[in-house]
Amino acid sequence: MTPVLIDGKHVAACVREKLLAEIAELKSRGHVPGLAVVLVGNDPASQVYVGSKVKACAELGLYSQKWELPAETTQEELVDLIHKLNADDRIHGILVQSPPPSHIDEEAVVLNIAPEKDVDGFHPVNVAKLVLEDATGFVPCTPLGCMELLKAYGIETAGKHAVVIGRSMIVGKPMANLLVAKNANATVTIAHSRTKNLPELCRTADIIVAAVGRPEMVNAEYVKEGAVVLDVGINRIEDASRPRGYRIVGDVDFDSVKDKCSFITPVPGGVGPMTIAMLMANTVKACRQQVG
Ligand code: GUN
Repeated sequence: MTPVLIDGKHVAACVREKLLAEIAELKSRGHVPGLAVVLVGNDPASQVYVGSKVKACAELGLYSQKWELPAETTQEELVDLIHKLNADDRIHGILVQSPPPSHIDEEAVVLNIAPEKDVDGFHPVNVAKLVLEDATGFVPCTPLGCMELLKAYGIETAGKHAVVIGRSMIVGKPMANLLVAKNANATVTIAHSRTKNLPELCRTADIIVAAVGRPEMVNAEYVKEGAVVLDVGINRIEDASRPRGYRIVGDVDFDSVKDKCSFITPVPGGVGPMTIAMLMANTVKACRQQVG
């Protein structure tokens, strides 16, 4: 079987294009959606992600603030900043880049973000709204992007068996909730590091979402003929033949599985580009909900 390659760059561009009309409408009423991105410390990968988020805002004409705080920033200082951003009318969305330095209690920080500005969908109020299928909540951007890819390619989820590999609060759990919700109607299994016979279980899946953070783990042994495979992984592996000495691979061994799939996301260029597009969508939604 020759798979359809899911083009995340193209779908992300369509999402951004659709947002332009909504942004123009908000602006015509005097509202500019605003996002604050907060980075604590100097992790190079996080610096790149934060830079891309701010750039995406500028490209769409959104207001943004980038806060780069030193690694020694205390929990209290970070929480003080969040409270200021909660009270700032120019800011409709707040994101604290994860992971923060180890002395910061990320869960406690998230509790301080006003739920209506929590465009990451990490606050317990938004986790609950996802489970309750309350559309006013915010859903984490990466799983939201995966759903958008399925929709864009007309991939049926109703009655299908989806196996989500990974149980993180950023991807695995919200992904499973989105797939099982009444507007998707999949039958969902969440697999994780203690799951027995994972390849065998995955071979029963019509849709596999790989979000484990283990480079190229999902190979042909995991995939049944005709399955849809979404690869959320972004892993660096050593590669002496590359100028940087590494290359980026997903959680799926693309070459091993591709001939068995009906649809597959490449890495890079699959799920990755969707995350920032959905962050923009969540920021515009936050603005719309806040200004009425
Ligand atoms: N780090 C990796 N992905 C994400 C994300 O979606 N949100 C935040 N805040 N940090 C991240």
